[in-house]
Amino acid sequence: MAGLFMELGGKRILLIITGGIAAYKSLDLIRRLRERGADVRPVMTAAAQEFVTPLAVGALSASHVYSDLFSREDEQDVGHIRLARDCDLVLVAPASADLLAKMAHGLANDLASTVLLATDKPVLAAPAMNPKMWSAPATQRNVDMLRADGICFVGPMRGEMAESGEAGLGRMAEPVEIAETAAALLRGGDRPLEGRTALVTSGPTHEPIDPVRYIANRSSGRQGHAIAAALARLGADVTLVSGPVTIPDPAGVKTIHVERAEEMHSAVLSRLPVDIAVMVAAVADWRVATSSDQKIKKQAGDAPAPLILTENPDILKTVGHHVKRPRVVVGFAAETQDIEENALRKLERKGADLIVANDVSPETGIMGGSRNRVKVLSPTGVEAWPDLTKDEVADRLARLIAERLAER
Ligand code: C5P
Repeated sequence: MAGLFMELGGKRILLIITGGIAAYKSLDLIRRLRERGADVRPVMTAAAQEFVTPLAVGALSASHVYSDLFSREDEQDVGHIRLARDCDLVLVAPASADLLAKMAHGLANDLASTVLLATDKPVLAAPAMNPKMWSAPATQRNVDMLRADGICFVGPMRGEMAESGEAGLGRMAEPVEIAETAAALLRGGDRPLEGRTALVTSGPTHEPIDPVRYIANRSSGRQGHAIAAALARLGADVTLVSGPVTIPDPAGVKTIHVERAEEMHSAVLSRLPVDIAVMVAAVADWRVATSSDQKIKKQAGDAPAPLILTENPDILKTVGHHVKRPRVVVGFAAETQDIEENALRKLERKGADLIVANDVSPETGIMGGSRNRVKVLSPTGVEAWPDLTKDEVADRLARLIAERLAER
């Protein structure tokens, strides 16, 4: 198959598909893994076959599909122990609550659970289930045990469920994200931020005027969320403090949701100390000094109610000058004019090591869009990066941060 990136070239992935509606996404996952060069050998549970057919899985993976622990034919072919070991990674996607429970307790009563117990290779699980099942104490206990056993996780994500009206944490991570996490895991040594902690802010803030109105801005959170995910892929333990956004929480990251700048400020300070801080949020500079508890009424003939504003705390500046200052502090400068000069002044004033400056004039389409063209300023110089996707900017920045951390 023609490779797009071939970052998984020659790698053998044993893909275990369990029963759940997200199993349909494992068909796409097989394609994403194969276009990166991986050899995919699928194992399906009995429940998985209720959702997708072995025929489709076999055709897309160009491999025999294994499902029966007691198949004499399969046992003669590879055998379940060799199946568990003749691979570079065991990937479970979707990982149902049932399979996680079996894994945590060492049960081995079908091919999938037996292979998981017998393998000596890294295991990556992409859970997918109803939010109530995910947050159930039993599932959370199992996940904690599995993490302690060295099992890696990608997702689940927050979002709409297949069941109408159900939403929350439980959606399987997107196939591309799973493939990228698998690639990062297989790169193994290439996790320069392993053991490091990072804090990222993202999105806008909403500053209430009254219970129904607020002051906001056009930030989508895309760049900040992408940076949090990129730092996590390099091995960092990442906390993301996000303002109100419509995009899902990134995989592999702990996300704290806030609304107002003051909430973001205290969430950030409560997480110090960390090694890395990347403040990407478009924090409102001002909040309404006297926001009303009641909806402000329009009075016939009266002048509009005046809005008295007061300054919000500057989170980046606080972090940049804090006694527990992270070793690498990165800020953003969203400007519409004199970009470099303003960013240079910001570098000093905010106590940052790097400022990523971008032009957010409406004609650039950057604010809310999926691409970004940035200049990265440090006290020693300016680097102009080409036009990139926000994910690419995030990857480059995460690598740059890892290099700076290694220098010290
Ligand atoms: O001063 P300005 O808002 O242009 O600075 C932008 C940088 O400062 C961004 O990194 C932003 O996240 C951060 N900032 C902050 N708290 C504020 C205002 C900006 O953390 N109140």
